[in-house]
Amino acid sequence: MRNYIMKLGVGVLVAVGGLQLATAQKAPQYGKASIDELIQAMTPEEKAALLVGPGMPGYAGLVPLEGEPDVRVLGEAGGNDKVDRLAIPETVFADGPAGLRIQPKRQNDPNTYYATAFPVGTALASTWNTDLIESVGEAMGEEVKEYGVDVLLAPALNIHRNPLNGRNFEYYSEDPLVAGKIASAYIQGIQSNDVGTSIKHFAANNQETNRLSVNAHITERAMREIYLRGFEIAIKEAKPWTVMTAYNKLNGKYASASNDLLTAILRDEWGYKGLVMTDWFGGYPSFESILVEGTVSDVVAQINAGNDLLMPGTETQREALAKAIADGTVNEEAVNTSLRRILEYIQRTPTTDSYKFSNKPDLEAHAEVTRKAAAEGMILLKNDDNALPFTNKSETIAVFGDHSYSFIAGGTGSGDVNEAYSISLLQGLNNAGYSVDKELQALYEPFVEKAVEDENKRREEVGLLADNKRLPEMLPNADLVAAKAKSAAVAVITLGRNSGEQFDRKIDDDFYLGQDEVKLINTVTKAFHAEGKKVIVILNIGGVIETASWKDKVDAILLAWQPGQEGGNSVADVFSGATNPSGKLTMTFPIDYNHHASAANWLGVPAEKPTDVYYKEGIYVGYRYFNTFDVQPSYEFGFGGSYTTFEYSDVKLNTTTFEDEIKVSVKVTNTGKVAGKEVVQVYLSAPANLVDKPSEELRAFGKTKTLKPGKSETLKFTLKAKDLASFVDAQSAWIAEKGTYTVKVGASSEDIKTTATFTVNNNITAEKVNNTFDLDVQMEVLKN
Ligand code: BGC
Repeated sequence: MRNYIMKLGVGVLVAVGGLQLATAQKAPQYGKASIDELIQAMTPEEKAALLVGPGMPGYAGLVPLEGEPDVRVLGEAGGNDKVDRLAIPETVFADGPAGLRIQPKRQNDPNTYYATAFPVGTALASTWNTDLIESVGEAMGEEVKEYGVDVLLAPALNIHRNPLNGRNFEYYSEDPLVAGKIASAYIQGIQSNDVGTSIKHFAANNQETNRLSVNAHITERAMREIYLRGFEIAIKEAKPWTVMTAYNKLNGKYASASNDLLTAILRDEWGYKGLVMTDWFGGYPSFESILVEGTVSDVVAQINAGNDLLMPGTETQREALAKAIADGTVNEEAVNTSLRRILEYIQRTPTTDSYKFSNKPDLEAHAEVTRKAAAEGMILLKNDDNALPFTNKSETIAVFGDHSYSFIAGGTGSGDVNEAYSISLLQGLNNAGYSVDKELQALYEPFVEKAVEDENKRREEVGLLADNKRLPEMLPNADLVAAKAKSAAVAVITLGRNSGEQFDRKIDDDFYLGQDEVKLINTVTKAFHAEGKKVIVILNIGGVIETASWKDKVDAILLAWQPGQEGGNSVADVFSGATNPSGKLTMTFPIDYNHHASAANWLGVPAEKPTDVYYKEGIYVGYRYFNTFDVQPSYEFGFGGSYTTFEYSDVKLNTTTFEDEIKVSVKVTNTGKVAGKEVVQVYLSAPANLVDKPSEELRAFGKTKTLKPGKSETLKFTLKAKDLASFVDAQSAWIAEKGTYTVKVGASSEDIKTTATFTVNNNITAEKVNNTFDLDVQMEVLKN
């Protein structure tokens, strides 16, 4: 980002440290004095210095410029600034969701500082296994701590409003319960190391296009039920040390200056006690605007709303805030409250404990963690005639598709990680003892190497404004493919997609396959099927693609996501059957892009640079829309296959009349031939008299432990009034309506195995809340 700013022709934008304050003789000292004493002793400039970060020295690995301070961890994203006179230390924040993003190499230093690239967020969520996610968090947190970082800028849990969001790979789901529970486990794992997290981007940062200033018009109900609910679950359960506000506006106000969001809801309703920081330059209308003299985010509104820390911080913000503090235009109490929160945060950090970080996290152990997690997040979308697992190691596999040879471990931007190595699919298959066709390998490797080189060159030339382009597929000629169909036992085709910050994905040649990809699938399937041999597709993608037009042509589809640095090994584990796939979709795979209700209002208007985006689909996001409006998907929310089969039985409710809570239990039995785990989903259909409702909504989920064939496990769930409730705008309340509820326990949102009903005798107000998020425009939203 700084490169980008420098390219625009401006030098240093960071605040130059060193506050010249010699007024107080014996200034109170951090560590000895109380927080109140410290705040009292601060000058307006010192207050501003603590409330506004120090800029971007060392950001993402940029070697500090002359005049910029040295950074503790090269590649960090920033941190609070120090105040020398009061001995307040700086602390360090670093990205991001798939593991710690720091620079692997430092100047004049022979050591390396690689971090583990874990599976991307979507892959993690696809496990639906909160214990596993907690263990991933523990491993990530150890790297954070041992590399001298105080806060990991993660988890990221914006809702997959639309498949084209360029950052969906960092996020978890179209469903807020899944997103919230996964985030909660992730935070607890990381913070068990006594380092912090920053849950982001709060809230409704659902597109990259004009992300710094697009005004998202969203009803209060959609905010509360869809876009805030995951944050609410994770924040209440896991208490992240920090929250990062989103860039976008919400009904006319920047998220970082929204009193509704940051005070009425986050603090007053949810009881959040931690620190809130902006996203990088949040509150500025664009990155370019930072360079325009006189432009500054509305620092007064940001602090007054409860956004404690402005990151990464600019000199103009400091000046504006120091002035506002001195002349009283910013609320003094808000300033002191934010200072208090920052100081309370600093007190918790390893920095304050003078923790002697080793710079030697247990990377070997974490490689195992990521390998296991990635395999568990893989989803078997299709498996005709048991094409998988493929156990024949005596014959060769014909491996097609550029990305088999250049496997994508993770996305780009702040969700990236600098890992020591990344296992390609080819290496993974070789490691597992398979032999791959050497002639294809010899053709593909130089082609892919060149394609990757060209793409890297292009990206370098464009600079930070470069989007992701997929590699053009090499198309081996039909005769060669026919020969391989004779000599090899099976064909594997990998299709890849990458995306990242600043750009949303495209419909053509991204969501939909490119002509070259279609051709490759056609050629390979025709030749291999002519020989009675199977074709297995591996999807090495970060977000949803179209599958309906080609899925019938192939025998098996394994959705491997972007599975982190051990990706090839993880795929091989599933391919061979060493791991039985148990991942399930946390989002819908539509038949047609336009089948998503959000497609009609995606990105907003005007099209060239949308300033306003209207969430007219309201609460009907993902399966809530597909199920309610009977739109057939290609693969539905919650879907995922296995090498075994499960039977659901004995669904029981502890009562048929709901008082304060209801307990649901269900027995799951492995009825197949191999051991496996099953994700069990509990949906509720609720009476809809006060407000319209989706036909069903996910209200609980769980995963069995590994069940051997014939073995069973009974999963138990408890639902409280709020789990039954919808948000009723007219009453500013979450209300569980009276009437009959159907509990639908299923293997997916469409594959309901067993149901039971209960009643609620009178409307229950589960929670009365503030009246927030008034729309700033007239907007009709979709109703059932
Ligand atoms: C991203 C954040 C990230 C921050 C710091 C921003 O551009 O939106 O997710 O944490 O940069 O790198």
